[in-house]
Amino acid sequence: MNIDHEEIFKVENVKKIFNEGEQTQVNAVSDVSFKIKKGEFVAIVGPSGSGKSTLLNLISGLDTPTAGRIFLAGNDLTTLSGNELSDFRRDHIGFIFQAYNLIPVLSVEENIEFVMQLQGISKEVRREKVQSILSDVGLTGMEKRKPSQLSGGQQQRVAVARAIVTRPEIVLADEPTANLDSKTAVALVELMKELNSKYQTTFIFSTHDNTIMERAKRLITLKDGRIESDTIF
Ligand SMILES: Nc1ncnc2c1ncn2[C@@H]1O[C@H](COP(=O)(O)OP(=O)(O)OP(=O)(O)O)[C@@H](O)[C@H]1O
Ligand SMILES: [Mg+2]
Repeated sequence: MNIDHEEIFKVENVKKIFNEGEQTQVNAVSDVSFKIKKGEFVAIVGPSGSGKSTLLNLISGLDTPTAGRIFLAGNDLTTLSGNELSDFRRDHIGFIFQAYNLIPVLSVEENIEFVMQLQGISKEVRREKVQSILSDVGLTGMEKRKPSQLSGGQQQRVAVARAIVTRPEIVLADEPTANLDSKTAVALVELMKELNSKYQTTFIFSTHDNTIMERAKRLITLKDGRIESDTIF
């Protein structure tokens, strides 16, 4: 495969059609192509229904495209089986969700180390990494708390820590700030940007919010499932 080293992500002519009953088809994503280099900080924007969530689900391998190919770190995701895909996601992609999705019965440190545990990393190394990432996200001292004992903004910081602690090739986030008030939302995207600079972790996130999108380094705008514009700042 001909893939440039820097170019960690390549989406080629991706299409997603949802069948609604016998007759009706929804072209949620049509003929979308783009490439992303290591260290980019990309916002996917566009009106409600323009295909942002569908596209993020496709590029994370949570959903399969009707047509087209998706390469991440030299692997064609569209050729992997279900099990291969879940292993691949665990090892290469960090996720941040709109509703935080922390495990309520686990403490902050247990939530953050969960994937590392699945990867067989020793407890000693896990705890070191947890301490270091908690300091990055400004939550040192909160490791024993349960998610319910944190504010929404703090929970989302834990989710950011959990997403990047394994140093994935890419972090994907569908509307990560949608549940936060505007000040907390801006602080969260600034934190993501700091981590993007510090670790060269690539971020792709969707947003509706102008104050969030103006902090991106690249904007991919969708309209009716197609790329309307793609601007690097
Ligand atoms: N599982 C599904 N079955 C059928 N149609 C779907 C499904 N998921 C999404 N769609 C349709 O695909 C189109 C794109 O939806 P999508 O959720 O990707 O938009 P979005 O840009 O994320 O919108 P929002 O800003 O409201 O989150 C919409 O017309 C939607 O109704
Ligand atoms: Mg959406």
